[in-house]
Amino acid sequence: MKKKHNRHPFFSYISFIAFVFLNFYIPGISSSRIVSLGSIEIYNTHEWLPTEPTVYFRCQNENKTVLPDVKKKNMVYVFKGIESWQPLTELPEEKCKRCGLYEADTIKEDDVFDEWEFCSSDFSDGKYVRFKGKEFNATFICPKCTDTADSDVTAVAPSKEENNQHVGIIVIVTISLLASAVVICGSYLIYKYWQRRKREQDQARFLKLFEEGDDIEDELDLEHL
Ligand SMILES: *[C@@H]1O[C@H](CO)[C@@H](O)[C@H](O)[C@H]1NC(C)=O
Ligand SMILES: *[C@@H]1O[C@H](CO)[C@@H](O)[C@H](O)[C@H]1NC(C)=O
Repeated sequence: MKKKHNRHPFFSYISFIAFVFLNFYIPGISSSRIVSLGSIEIYNTHEWLPTEPTVYFRCQNENKTVLPDVKKKNMVYVFKGIESWQPLTELPEEKCKRCGLYEADTIKEDDVFDEWEFCSSDFSDGKYVRFKGKEFNATFICPKCTDTADSDVTAVAPSKEENNQHVGIIVIVTISLLASAVVICGSYLIYKYWQRRKREQDQARFLKLFEEGDDIEDELDLEHL
């Protein structure tokens, strides 16, 4: 009875480890640098007709993302990152994307609030503030983007990215090794437990046989007498 009680926490422990392992491992593999808009305030509109502006974000060779709520100047719009039109884009690991904030124009070409090189290394603590005087102030959110406080973007970013990749590989290898160790230890413990039980059973059977043997011997002795 006591043994059964002992076995239980061990298996809970194994399943706990497996749970943590899976949770950590799988999101790590599929991690992507998805950028969403955290907040925006525009200081200017470029439309001279008395209509509401249509503000949109776009990266080169990608589709427009219209910001449907952003209609008024000098008003801070805060987003959760899960709005229907989010996220804005996904940044590659080693290159920047040319992106911008624009305003659709009914007659001439669309107006540009700003256009810039958008790099995952620009993010610090998953946040990036883009401010352009008289135009806009926007914060972008990307929890998986790396942070480089000191930035010579073109030169430093690739090596940092590389470093990150190395760290990622080391983490994965370490976790794999730990997981293997846990599995091996677990198997060994189960094997030992099984061995001990078998020995105990054998012993019990042997003792029983022995007792039975004794009984027979006694009987034989009695008959002899
Ligand atoms: C852009 O929009 C078109 C049509 O809505 C869609 O077929 C295409 O997959 C989109 N491309 C990207 C990169 O989202
Ligand atoms: C831009 O917006 C962010 C977030 O709302 C704020 O922290 C920051 O002070 C703003 N910057 C300017 C120059 O208004």
